[in-house]
Amino acid sequence: MKISFEHKNALVGGSTQGLGKAIAIQLAECGANVTLLARNEAKLKKVLKELNTDSGQKHNYVEVDFYNLEDFKKTVSGFLKNHPVHILVNNTNGPEAGGVLEKNLPDYQKAFDLLFQTVCFTTLEVLPGMQKNKFGRIINVSSLSVKEPIQNLALSNTIRVALTSWAKALSTEVAKDNITVNSILTGNFDTERLNHLIALQAKAKNVSEEEIRESRIAAIPMKRFGRPVEYAYLAAFLASDYASYITGTNIPIDGGLLKSL
Ligand SMILES: NC(=O)c1ccc[n+]([C@@H]2O[C@H](COP(=O)([O-])OP(=O)(O)OC[C@H]3O[C@@H](n4cnc5c(N)ncnc54)[C@H](OP(=O)(O)O)[C@@H]3O)[C@@H](O)[C@H]2O)c1
Repeated sequence: MKISFEHKNALVGGSTQGLGKAIAIQLAECGANVTLLARNEAKLKKVLKELNTDSGQKHNYVEVDFYNLEDFKKTVSGFLKNHPVHILVNNTNGPEAGGVLEKNLPDYQKAFDLLFQTVCFTTLEVLPGMQKNKFGRIINVSSLSVKEPIQNLALSNTIRVALTSWAKALSTEVAKDNITVNSILTGNFDTERLNHLIALQAKAKNVSEEEIRESRIAAIPMKRFGRPVEYAYLAAFLASDYASYITGTNIPIDGGLLKSL
């Protein structure tokens, strides 16, 4: 099996580090023209240089702040006017941590803008082009929190369920146009986000970060965190022609961490 994304354009959110960066690298490796989406221009330029161009791929970046919804919408729709997208990877930074009792309504609104509105907006903007081309791959980076709420992640637990439910309904409406919509339920992957959550947990429990890291690893049947490249392989598969009959799914990638079926 060889995946080729030659002549395919991919838009990858949150792609200057972590999971988004690994996905961008993998899609480019398989021949896609990749547009990176994130805040920090210096980091965007640096990652752009790391993307494979062996088969003449043309890469690009767009500077956006997911928390500034009005500017985000203007910038993204301006870009999309002249740039059709075949593969959309909806990935943002994670919402702030904290338990249910610590969060207020503006916190939920902020997380809703981040995790739902930016994704919903971008998807609806790219869909007409996908429908016209009779091809599209929409991949949402989500979390295990969709199946099993995670302690101290009230915002993620709440809003990500809404997004996956929306994605499932959407998948049934666009399937006839050869567009697939799938969500990846992310376990523990070795990224800055995970380091940040570990640091918060260590502080809250007044123990070392190493202790938290070890206890998290002990809970994973594979006894290790995932590597971003392992995540990127799944995303590339879902974006490929080999996944043409897979849609409306929520696929966990977690080294066996999820307890439910
Ligand atoms: N890693 C895990 O174990 C794990 C587990 C479950 C779910 N997830 C979820 O998967 C997603 C990706 O996680 P990750 O671990 O790859 O995160 P990460 O390492 O923190 O990367 C986040 C990416 O988003 C960009 N970003 C941050 N704030 C932004 C903003 N306001 N506007 C635009 N771009 C912004 C960052 O680049 P700039 O700083 O350049 O903007 C970076 O490229 C998150 O939603 C996370 O919650 C991760």
